[in-house]
Amino acid sequence: MSVRHFLRDDDLSAAEQLEVLQLAAAMKADRTGFRNLAGKAVAVIFEKPSLRTRVSFEVGIAQLGGAPLIIDATTTHFGRGETIGDAAKVLSRYVDAIVIRSGSDTRLAELVAGSDVPVVNALTDGFHPCQLLADLQTVRERLGDTQGRVLSYFGDTANNMANSYALAGTLAGMRVRLCGPAGFEPDAAVLAAARTHGVVEVLPDPAEAAKDADVLVTDTWVSMGQEADGLDRRTPFLPYQINGSLLGSAKVGAVVLHCLPAHRGDEITSEVMDGPQSAIWDEAENRLHAQKALLAYLVERR
Ligand code: CP
Ligand code: NVA
Repeated sequence: MSVRHFLRDDDLSAAEQLEVLQLAAAMKADRTGFRNLAGKAVAVIFEKPSLRTRVSFEVGIAQLGGAPLIIDATTTHFGRGETIGDAAKVLSRYVDAIVIRSGSDTRLAELVAGSDVPVVNALTDGFHPCQLLADLQTVRERLGDTQGRVLSYFGDTANNMANSYALAGTLAGMRVRLCGPAGFEPDAAVLAAARTHGVVEVLPDPAEAAKDADVLVTDTWVSMGQEADGLDRRTPFLPYQINGSLLGSAKVGAVVLHCLPAHRGDEITSEVMDGPQSAIWDEAENRLHAQKALLAYLVERR
């Protein structure tokens, strides 16, 4: 069987995504009962900062009986000439999967070209597909199913989270609404790909986007690497904050998500983050279970 990678959300079909989510639920119910990575090792490389991704992969791989190798890229030879493709050729001789958080998707493709083992995208500038598995698991827990639900994303609709919501959300049968300021529009190619799976609406008006929504989500207005891009990443975004008023437009019992880290008072208020409709802490926990299921799925299909 050929090696399966998970570089963007649509690398899993709708049926495969559901299979991973069902396995994730089983793994959550029995945290130490699955040993799918016994005797195996997984390299987890970071070229950008992380808290949740690093810890959830390390704990998850260990719970599955595997050896997690957490690699801070600044301690490797990447910065002094070794190509990431060469590194992947070497790592493939040692490990059973490579997880990487990097910048461009082109760089990820270079790693994949050198790898004989499954590669997992732990966030690039383009996508954050592991986060979406956790988010979908959380929606299923709170609302029972994702099919037919309306998910509305507010903020930087040009970033990795917006792309991943469009792709993974439609694959899960959700109607996805993307709502953000002019100048930060969704990627046209990603929109086109997502629309082959389902409905994605681009709605500039926050009240319209929130109306009767089942899930409200947001993300930082300043993604990693954008800190000094010269754009005003605050003033244009202020109308897109998730606050009590916006939540009041959504369906009664709507669920609020945020991948974290959050900037309280910017993209989301503390009132909402800490309120009864927030599923944010479950969402963070589900990174652990969803990624365990994903790794088991990919490694066993090699
Ligand atoms: N949500 C998320 O990926 O968090 P970290 O950047 O802390 O890994
Ligand atoms: N869009 C954010 C997500 C962080 C988990 C970033 O790329 O920094």
